[in-house]
Amino acid sequence: MSDEKLRNVLSSLAPVARQLDVLPSGRPAADASYVKLDTNENPFPLPSIVMQGARAALERQYLYPEHDNISLREAAGYAYGIATDQVIAGNGSSELLGLLYRAFLTPGDRVAMLSPGFSFNRKLAMLHAAELVEIESAETPSLPIEKLLSGPAKDAKFVLLANPNNPTGLYVPLADVERLLARSERLIVLDEAYVDFAPDNGLRLLSRYANLLILRTLSKSYAAAGIRVGFGFGHPALIGRLRNIQNVFNMNVIGQAVGISILTHRAAYEGNHRHIRDERQRVSAVLSQLGFCVPPSHANFVLARAPVGQDGSWWQAALAKEKILVASFPDKSLERCIRISIGTKDQMDAFLAAIKAISARIKTRSC
Ligand SMILES: Cc1ncc(COP(=O)(O)O)c(C=O)c1O
Repeated sequence: MSDEKLRNVLSSLAPVARQLDVLPSGRPAADASYVKLDTNENPFPLPSIVMQGARAALERQYLYPEHDNISLREAAGYAYGIATDQVIAGNGSSELLGLLYRAFLTPGDRVAMLSPGFSFNRKLAMLHAAELVEIESAETPSLPIEKLLSGPAKDAKFVLLANPNNPTGLYVPLADVERLLARSERLIVLDEAYVDFAPDNGLRLLSRYANLLILRTLSKSYAAAGIRVGFGFGHPALIGRLRNIQNVFNMNVIGQAVGISILTHRAAYEGNHRHIRDERQRVSAVLSQLGFCVPPSHANFVLARAPVGQDGSWWQAALAKEKILVASFPDKSLERCIRISIGTKDQMDAFLAAIKAISARIKTRSC
């Protein structure tokens, strides 16, 4: 292979692709012997009725998926009490986040996000040569509305609010979100990936505010992260523009069928949501007893800040040695934190046993 040819090819890359390093080949997924609590999945099987739909969809594998996800969008509209043309369907809500960046931003534009926030937005902003203005959120459940409307955030093309937020689990009251919507002329993207574990949601604001776009996903509360189904809800004029620039056949036949079936059988998940809320409380209480600081979470994970002098990445590595995977973060404000997804009772028992044993070892050593 000629080096010269490769150099020529690489020099034709657009600047944004040229400046990024080549990705390493990737790493295999953790095998089943690990307890995986690092990416906020919901480790329960699909209800059997939904599984039947998935199998039936596989038999239509030779067909292209339905154009424009029309049946799936109709099902979402029906489930959430809005019109089909207020719904866009995505290959996970992360596809829709990417679409928003593509639709709204030209190089040099700004986007505002609460910090700490969903880190994927950093990558999206970089890919679009946009500036991500990160507005520090208070540890109290309220929105820094003035900061989101003034200063560097003032001319952001859109504002991203994840409610509940990832990675903090913090939920801000809807009244705050509504105040921001009322005072802002910008698009407010209300990312409700975790909202089924929270006390309220922003759907009823849709009919009142044309500058609201809500994102939802079936990855978290509906145990379908691997199927990749997400939604955006907003004004038909905005949704239509977004659908216009979406990849044709962005979803597959299984995602479409499972999505419709989950939306039709949402009641089958009530026990799952209750279980996650109960386990979240149990895990938070034990972590607090062990000296971690655990702010109230309204999502399917908890963020735990280790005692002073301890480091989140150290805890992550120590737990990984016990075959428990949790997340840690590079951000300065989160350096003592680990984020633990809430899974089955057995998974949480294994996590608690491991963290208790490690805590006891550290205490013995320090005496
Ligand atoms: C706040 C938030 N939004 C969106 C997503 C993306 O979810 P998905 O692409 O699986 O729908 C995540 C996933 O972790 C998230 O935490």
